[in-house]
Amino acid sequence: MIKPHGSDELNPLFVYDSVENEALQKEAEDLPSIVVSSATAANAVMLGGGYFNPFTGYMNKADALSVAEKMHTTDGLFWPTPITNLVEDAGDIKAGSRIALKDPNVEGNPVLAVMDVEAVEEFSDDEMAAMTEQVYGTTDTEHPGVAAFNSQGKTLLSGPIKVLNFSYFQSEFPDTFRTAVEIRNEIKEHGWQKVVAFQTRNPMHRAHEELCHMAMDRLGADGLVIHMLLGKLKPGDIPAPVRDAAIRKMVELYFPPNSAIVTGYGFDMLYAGPREAVLHAVFRQNMGATHLIVGRDHAGVGDYYTDFGAQEIFDTIPEGAMEIKIFKADHTAYSKKLDKVVMMREAPDHTKEDFVLLSGTKVREMLGEGKAPPPEFSRPEVAQILMDYYQSLNS
Ligand code: ADX
Repeated sequence: MIKPHGSDELNPLFVYDSVENEALQKEAEDLPSIVVSSATAANAVMLGGGYFNPFTGYMNKADALSVAEKMHTTDGLFWPTPITNLVEDAGDIKAGSRIALKDPNVEGNPVLAVMDVEAVEEFSDDEMAAMTEQVYGTTDTEHPGVAAFNSQGKTLLSGPIKVLNFSYFQSEFPDTFRTAVEIRNEIKEHGWQKVVAFQTRNPMHRAHEELCHMAMDRLGADGLVIHMLLGKLKPGDIPAPVRDAAIRKMVELYFPPNSAIVTGYGFDMLYAGPREAVLHAVFRQNMGATHLIVGRDHAGVGDYYTDFGAQEIFDTIPEGAMEIKIFKADHTAYSKKLDKVVMMREAPDHTKEDFVLLSGTKVREMLGEGKAPPPEFSRPEVAQILMDYYQSLNS
């Protein structure tokens, strides 16, 4: 099986030993505490589940700056985005403090993790702007990821953590939320060697479905892990439970039995395009996938990135920096001439009119009006779930 990133064994930071977990929860009641940002909480969930292996906690300033600039820590480990715990005001917390991190996303703010603070450092405005530009390719505050990153504060708490629970993900998505440890185990149980991961934050239409089939066929893969983001999205994106239902229906009806598993991870969308695609690849290696599909405008938003920038960034990554491979997909769409979904570059005799192409806005408009998109675009059973959702918004 593919090795985790940066170590021989996966080192999840969740405290699996129930006696130790309870003791830490008890101890946390008397520790100084902070309610962390949603991004910090999501980082804890990812660290807890082994997705951010081999890190043992939040990065210090030198590492965060180094990762943003060069995609390597100061020790030379390849990693594409800072893993930070940023706060407005550290109060009495200083290097050497042991603190409780409270969850902003669960009622009553229960303790999510215990942290040993090794350093409390400040970023200057210029440093924040430089990191933002390097990771997101822009400092435009209209960009949802830029806005979220910069809303947390500029004081950085770094140091190791122990994670006590998986926030709201396990209770709200009991069938779908998985840790990297669990996905590795499922892959092993299936006996899959070559495993394709499909990242998504959207319901899957025909183009996505066929993209997965094409990747599996061309790579000769044994299995597919559909791995959806379950954390925070920008307004207007389809909520995770609706996506989950739509994707499950598609897999049930249109995938051979035991060829695909439907899973999810607890992280907020960064919308960081190319850099997020690299992060996606590294944490899919940690969960045991050998390949990640990267298609058009992967992890993009608005017009901030080019269609294939998220593929091109992989050409700049030093050989051997990670083991997982990328399946680079061209824009896929239904060809009326060939009566099937194809990669557009593989149908050079086609004009735009030969494809069924619908914008996201158009599809949302149709679904909201209770009109199913054409079956070439969306499976009718999937469209029904989405129509029900959009119509529930109107009623
Ligand atoms: S993402 O933000 O999670 O990347 P989305 O769920 O829309 O967004 O896409 C999931 C994956 O499918 C990404 O790799 C994306 O590039 C790819 N993708 C989506 N639509 C198409 C398409 N029509 N053609 C090619 N790739 C696509």
